[in-house]
Amino acid sequence: MSDRLYIFDTTLRDGEQVPGCQLNTVEKIEVAKTLEELGVDIIEAGFPISSPGDFKSVVEISKAVTWPTICALTRAVEKDIQVAAEALQYAKRKRIHTGIGTSYYHVHYKLNSNPDEIVERAVAAVKYAKKYVEDVEFYAEDAGRTDNEYLARVVEAVIKAGATVVNIPDTTGYCLPTMFGEKIKYLFDHVDGIHNATIATHCHNDLGMATANTIAGIQNGARQAEVTINGIGERAGNTSLEEIVMTIKSHKDLNVHTNVNSKHIYRTSRMISSLMNMPVQPNKAIVGRNAFAHSSGIHQDGVLKNRENYEIIDPKEVGINESSIVLTARSGRAALKHRLEILGFKLEKEKLDQVYEEFLKLADKKKDIKDDDIALLVGDVRKEERRIKLDFLQVVTGKDLVPMATVRLDIAGEKFSATESGNGPVDAAIKAVKHIIHRKVVLEEFLIQAITRGSDDIGKVHMHVEYEDQIFHGFGAHTDIVTASVEAFIDAINKMNPVSA
Ligand code: KIV
Ligand code: ZN
Repeated sequence: MSDRLYIFDTTLRDGEQVPGCQLNTVEKIEVAKTLEELGVDIIEAGFPISSPGDFKSVVEISKAVTWPTICALTRAVEKDIQVAAEALQYAKRKRIHTGIGTSYYHVHYKLNSNPDEIVERAVAAVKYAKKYVEDVEFYAEDAGRTDNEYLARVVEAVIKAGATVVNIPDTTGYCLPTMFGEKIKYLFDHVDGIHNATIATHCHNDLGMATANTIAGIQNGARQAEVTINGIGERAGNTSLEEIVMTIKSHKDLNVHTNVNSKHIYRTSRMISSLMNMPVQPNKAIVGRNAFAHSSGIHQDGVLKNRENYEIIDPKEVGINESSIVLTARSGRAALKHRLEILGFKLEKEKLDQVYEEFLKLADKKKDIKDDDIALLVGDVRKEERRIKLDFLQVVTGKDLVPMATVRLDIAGEKFSATESGNGPVDAAIKAVKHIIHRKVVLEEFLIQAITRGSDDIGKVHMHVEYEDQIFHGFGAHTDIVTASVEAFIDAINKMNPVSA
């Protein structure tokens, strides 16, 4: 019988730290319930001391979710631990995740401390957390760059203090798979009492090795993998849940199994992407739109003869059922409702009517409506009421013409217009918006992405707009990319303090 690998999902904590990906409490509850249906063992619901919003989310997720353990992050600080315990009060199964940096850099430069003192603080934090909960996980931050001998000392001390799980994060994504695997092996060979705790991996993807490092950790005895959906997370992200689950399913010789129902992977991936406005790269393993698309003639021929000629995973195993993905203008409300449910969206009648209305408008412009389009429509309908809205946009552009844009904004019920020229239609339209809002804002980053394919496709625009040394993230989606760009710009402006024209 293979060993159980526990899946610890940190989409709502490490994943949510990405600028522009923040969710409100209602959305977080929805994500947590979807993770529960997916079958994850532990949901890291937030870092309660960090903000009242995080605190509230941990409380509400604890109430909403039944069987996964709910985990709250803390530093090795008593106040953090007290607040985490309070936030977890309604959880049926609860865990406090406390820890401290152990690498030379963290000990000396971040914490201005020394190795002995760090061991003391680590032990004290675990003992303090044990007063509130039985299940205490300890993280040795930057373990990837921590000297193995010292790491073994810390791990042994926290297990003696009562840690039930010890997390070995490669915080900076520095390790090679061999290094990380050897680190885990070193701990198993040198830590007295290591079998009294579960050893966890928590790998970041800075060098693109998060999945490989996690697998190396598992091969050497780790039995908890810390992951996020779509691998989202700060910088290059975290290990992705879908890659670990499907690697384990594809390689029985790893001798571990998880509780995840892989058939829910695709819809969970799409839901997270849509709620967090975080596109999934087309070639992303397992969940990218090209992950199972065979374009070359030789491959198509091979797959038609026998799927296994070129596919190691049956798309149905991750919940992709190509034939049911396409909806058209002729699809009725029931078909849309069914598709939404498959994608994990349970909407009340009023919201469903709104989404259906938007769906019909889109279907008028676009032949096939794919899952990504539907997820976007849901996101649009849910957007809270914005103070500034795009009321009208007209652009004149073409070869050898100076692009001109006229924009009318509705700012808290009042209408303001401006016309500007620019070096392209987007430039002209953004200048017109700037003219109306009178703010010195700088467009720092501008990303346009088609979400499915074809010239009738929806364009998604992400923007980073700088204002008074702060960065605001904006998102817009439309079949017209100038409109999507202006919507993204306005979305960012709406996040700043109230604007008057
Ligand atoms: O990457 C990391 O080290 C973390 C810890 C807080 C677990 O996210
Ligand atoms: Zn992390």
